[in-house]
Amino acid sequence: MSAIVIVGAQWGDEGKGKIVDLITEDADVVARFAGGPNAGHTLVVGDTKIVVRLLPSGILHPKAVCVMGQGMVIDPAVLVGEIDALEARGHSTASRLFVSDRAHLILPYHPLIDGLREASAEAGKKIGTTKRGIGPCYEDKAGRRGVRAGDLRDMRKVEGLLEGALAAWMPVLTGLGGEAPNVREILAWLEPLAARIVPLLADTSKLLNEALREGKRVVLEGAQAALLDLDHGTYPFVTSSSAVAGGACVGTGIGPTRIRRVIGIAKGYATRVGEGPFPTELGDEIGERLRSVGGEYGSVTGRPRRTGWLDLPALRYAARVNGLDALAITKLDVMTGISPLRVCVAYDTPTGRTQDLPIDELATATPVYEAFPGWTEALAAARSLDELPGAARDYLKLVEASVGVPLDMVSVGPRRDETIVLRDVFA
Ligand code: IMP
Repeated sequence: MSAIVIVGAQWGDEGKGKIVDLITEDADVVARFAGGPNAGHTLVVGDTKIVVRLLPSGILHPKAVCVMGQGMVIDPAVLVGEIDALEARGHSTASRLFVSDRAHLILPYHPLIDGLREASAEAGKKIGTTKRGIGPCYEDKAGRRGVRAGDLRDMRKVEGLLEGALAAWMPVLTGLGGEAPNVREILAWLEPLAARIVPLLADTSKLLNEALREGKRVVLEGAQAALLDLDHGTYPFVTSSSAVAGGACVGTGIGPTRIRRVIGIAKGYATRVGEGPFPTELGDEIGERLRSVGGEYGSVTGRPRRTGWLDLPALRYAARVNGLDALAITKLDVMTGISPLRVCVAYDTPTGRTQDLPIDELATATPVYEAFPGWTEALAAARSLDELPGAARDYLKLVEASVGVPLDMVSVGPRRDETIVLRDVFA
């Protein structure tokens, strides 16, 4: 029995897709447990780049069973579109993709409300969402008026649920100047999609627990990240789901006793997309260099990502709220040529210096930096720590020691093989 949880340890976009894809080589099942098409996991196979927003990143491995857990919110059109796009490129998902019948559906009024809200929010109140309807869909789930994937088995039931949900949203929609969605139009849009999704429905908690009982290797893939988590992130500038490792249990129906290892993914620097505090943000040419060399543009929205120095108190916080057993550091190659490198090691706050992340007082906290020598050598060919320049090794040692969590992997380039693997995570 071994379930490995993979989570983002910063503000998302840490390169989880590549690491999950790599680990899935040795896995039998990969399940996503939270979020929806707000995620964008970029997979590079040979010279081809494939972005999956909803499907688990293990989908490119022909033998991996892929599961979309009940913690996810699923836009039916995006799901069917992604399956078709992969099939068209020769990646079949037939008989190995399963969708939890308890996952909630993103329906056309969710992105509509998300977009209208963002457009009408005053300055300082915008979240900078991906406008994919994530927040409103999770609101319906918590409000007990959502439509779940399993409801697609009975379109008459869906009709009743839609009427209930729309009655609840009407005052909001009218207040935002939106038009009333039409139940018949939504049903007409949904019916052909339902015909494609119903055959994929399963009790995925049962499927995953049986797989674990049979000794299969299961990867639970997070989306977004600790600092975007609804409970533990920089609220209210967060997403609306449980992106931390605990969410893997809730979002898949696997008990915490079944988790064997939790791996946090972090870039060697930091990025954030959307609004909200980002104390180590760089507004200078180094920030611009990280953005252009690292291709730091949102894979869902194309927005330029904000870039900054690595924040060790934030990483320690992520290690704590996730119970990290290990770290995978990504995009180290992007930092080549920047010297000195600065790293936030502590915060000065009105009540003194702290090694902790003052998560709810970031507006009045000042990062304390230490500078370290950088390196100029290209890293992509390195397959062991010994093959890295000394300064890069020292940087990694600093991260490991300050966070108190060992490294499992270091990514030195976008391709699958451009990785230093320090441990067999299933061993
Ligand atoms: P939402 O998840 O679309 O509601 O957006 C809420 C916040 O989370 C915004 O700041 C988004 O930019 C951010 N966000 C959501 N998904 C991702 C992701 O996959 N990577 C990075 N940021 C994300």
